Amino acid sequence: MDRRDFIRNTAVITAAGIICPDAIASSDNQTKNIQGSVDGKLITSAPMLQNFAETSIGVAFSVSAMANGFVKVSEVDDMSNFRLIKCGGYRVTGMNADVMQIRVTGLKPSTRYYYTIGADRISYEGGYRMRIVSTEEDPKIYSFITSGPGTSSHFCVINDTHANFSTFQLLQEKITALNPSCVVWNGDATNCEESIDSQKEIFFYPPIKNSDYASEIPYLFCPGNHDSRGMANRSLEKIWMYRQPEERLSRDWDLGRNFAIRLGDIAMIGLDTAEDKLDENPIFAGLFSSSEYRKAQVKWLQHVLSLKNIKNAPFIVAFCHIPLFDSNPRHNPGDVYPNDTDSRYDTNFAEWQRTCSDLWMPVLEKAGCKLVITAHEHAVRIDGPTKERPWTQIVGGGPALGNPPTVIEGKVLNGQLQVSICNAANGDTMGQVTLKSK
Ligand SMILES: [Fe+2]
Ligand SMILES: [Fe+2]
Repeated sequence: MDRRDFIRNTAVITAAGIICPDAIASSDNQTKNIQGSVDGKLITSAPMLQNFAETSIGVAFSVSAMANGFVKVSEVDDMSNFRLIKCGGYRVTGMNADVMQIRVTGLKPSTRYYYTIGADRISYEGGYRMRIVSTEEDPKIYSFITSGPGTSSHFCVINDTHANFSTFQLLQEKITALNPSCVVWNGDATNCEESIDSQKEIFFYPPIKNSDYASEIPYLFCPGNHDSRGMANRSLEKIWMYRQPEERLSRDWDLGRNFAIRLGDIAMIGLDTAEDKLDENPIFAGLFSSSEYRKAQVKWLQHVLSLKNIKNAPFIVAFCHIPLFDSNPRHNPGDVYPNDTDSRYDTNFAEWQRTCSDLWMPVLEKAGCKLVITAHEHAVRIDGPTKERPWTQIVGGGPALGNPPTVIEGKVLNGQLQVSICNAANGDTMGQVTLKSK
């Protein structure tokens, strides 16, 4: 920023009353690291609830300049006796100029909490030359309910949104009407993102009416193949925070978005099928490692399915992006070495994931999982159970109106898990599944 720009921006920021006067009197040097947006607003999105769980939840939001974010959380709606949690983990806080990520831990299961967000604008010039210039707080009090056996057994699933904001608007209108306990975003939220700004638009301020869509309804995320593509997506955790390392075994520290939570009578299991091409495919230049990642999730899966809270759930539902079954013999199963190409198949990428199915489904079947909800094929499908495959697979649709964007709703009523697929474009029900408990 040259001196003229600095003066112009400083004047705007001063008029907005964001920065305290003594900061304005500072030299260019002291303020050049304040990368404020033109209107001076530091917090540039509503909070997004990420990776919620029984005793913890992630709160993330966008900022326009170097900042250190915080959340105040309370069990009462007047925010009395609030607890303040800063972004980041151990050693140093998560100060940065893009996304504040605060993992709130020590919560009680199935409990409503109230929270607010705020951020300190930081002037950082290196070494010990750093200070808080001003503090901005979103005046709105938000709330959420943690997961747990006492939480309403009611979820929604969206998938393959691909930054298509017109269909994302329709999906959000449906979700608002259904008001579930949580939403699983089942992958391909992005396309191929090269910048954190495009990621921020997709997750934090999508151009839709209710861009605070995830401020009170918590989200879980099963990444899709597109969510690994592009330089920015290689560091997806800067946008979609991991759970804290202490929330899983040290062996599984790198599995920060996999989830196994109780939502009332349902155990929700989230897996990541990763890319739809082999690591060995020459177009990947040896820069992807889906194979080991898929195997690592087996041990994680065996562990979480042995936990009392999960094992004892009346229903176990697994979620992942790429389907784990496909009856169409022309559909590529994702294990054609070395370059995913074979004349037997219509595509040179995986339409379903036989490797993941072979790794994960025996474990899930043994635990009593009767339903897997997937995505990726951009066409709605229900694969009913057979003698050899005692589980149902639902494949969600989207993203274009021609391939209807879907909201898959699951809820437990009278001891049965009822799942319906809604065409978000016209409200039609495209299919229903009813399951008895295991
Ligand atoms: Fe997709
Ligand atoms: Fe996909």
